[in-house]
Amino acid sequence: MCTMAPGLEEIAKEELAEKLNSPNITETGRGKVFFHGKYHLEEFCRLSCVDNIYMVVSRMFVGTRKQDLEQLYDHIKKLDFSEAKRFLGIQDKPEIIVSASKRGKQTYSRFDLSAYVTDLLVSTGKFVAGDIGKHNFPIRVDVDINTCILSVQLTTADFRFRGSNYGYMPGGIRPTIAAALIRVSKPDKADVFYDPFCGAGTIPRERARIQNRRILASDINPDAVVCTKNNLPGNIKVFQCDARNMKVKDNSIDVIVSNIPWGKQIEVESIAELYTDFFHEAGRVLKDKGRIVILTDREEIVECAEKRGFRISRKAVVSLHGLLAGVYFIQK
Ligand SMILES: C[S@@+](CC[C@H](N)C(=O)[O-])C[C@H]1O[C@@H](n2cnc3c(N)ncnc32)[C@H](O)[C@@H]1O
Repeated sequence: MCTMAPGLEEIAKEELAEKLNSPNITETGRGKVFFHGKYHLEEFCRLSCVDNIYMVVSRMFVGTRKQDLEQLYDHIKKLDFSEAKRFLGIQDKPEIIVSASKRGKQTYSRFDLSAYVTDLLVSTGKFVAGDIGKHNFPIRVDVDINTCILSVQLTTADFRFRGSNYGYMPGGIRPTIAAALIRVSKPDKADVFYDPFCGAGTIPRERARIQNRRILASDINPDAVVCTKNNLPGNIKVFQCDARNMKVKDNSIDVIVSNIPWGKQIEVESIAELYTDFFHEAGRVLKDKGRIVILTDREEIVECAEKRGFRISRKAVVSLHGLLAGVYFIQK
């Protein structure tokens, strides 16, 4: 099972099909895609749009009352974790941490669920309880109404954050979401790429992971420019400028991908004015047939883009920080 921001399932499926050797995609849930196949960790490392990958160990029935958790007892006690242990290279007793989620009306909480499964696994004598700072076998239990899925997390936070050394700016997105935006932009190795609202540079950083001709990144905020410079390889041109007056030549850019301000974490006087002025400039700097991918929760984007003569369509709606944001594909 792999997980992603809810709304990006189809984009993740496309990436799985392209980058893994014949994955048999069996099911899609909210923020989850299930697939079968035998893979090594290095193969998973090719995936950019998914947050985590899990080995599903079991799917069980469970009732909705707290006492029904006992129904899991016999089943979980007999589970075979040897394949997950082998994958993670664990020979001794795994140190577990159990996280839980649930959907539906149950009389138990997700904390009851994780505590029950932790105690049960430790009682078998085959596991020891770890904690958030020290564990080597993260287990996840998801209950959806009456179905309980138990899985072992195979990837670490480094997988989705691409390491821990990157600076952050307000309004930043996860690298996996940036990668999904880039996938929607249909990247080509001959592209000149530009993010004019780069923040900490997450989007250009993801673009730099795949072949490109040239990457430009700018932001109005000088702190963001410094942060992006520190976060990106030196061959990327990073500069300060207002996206309403880009310091970029006419007809020089193939593709713009940006997480444009939404007027929440980044204050903006008038979103409609900013978007309209940005599209005016984008029309100038983009080559003919140039394309734009924008992430925003502001619906004004459609009118602002159309006003400047662009064709715009919404490709996905992503759930982020409790808000729903559209992924828009826009053509000159
Ligand atoms: C949503 S954030 C981008 C976050 C970025 N994608 C990341 O992951 O870090 C929007 C950025 O737009 C910048 N911004 C706001 N108004 C701008 C303008 N008129 N021109 C250029 N950048 C602007 C802000 O400084 C902020 O860094």
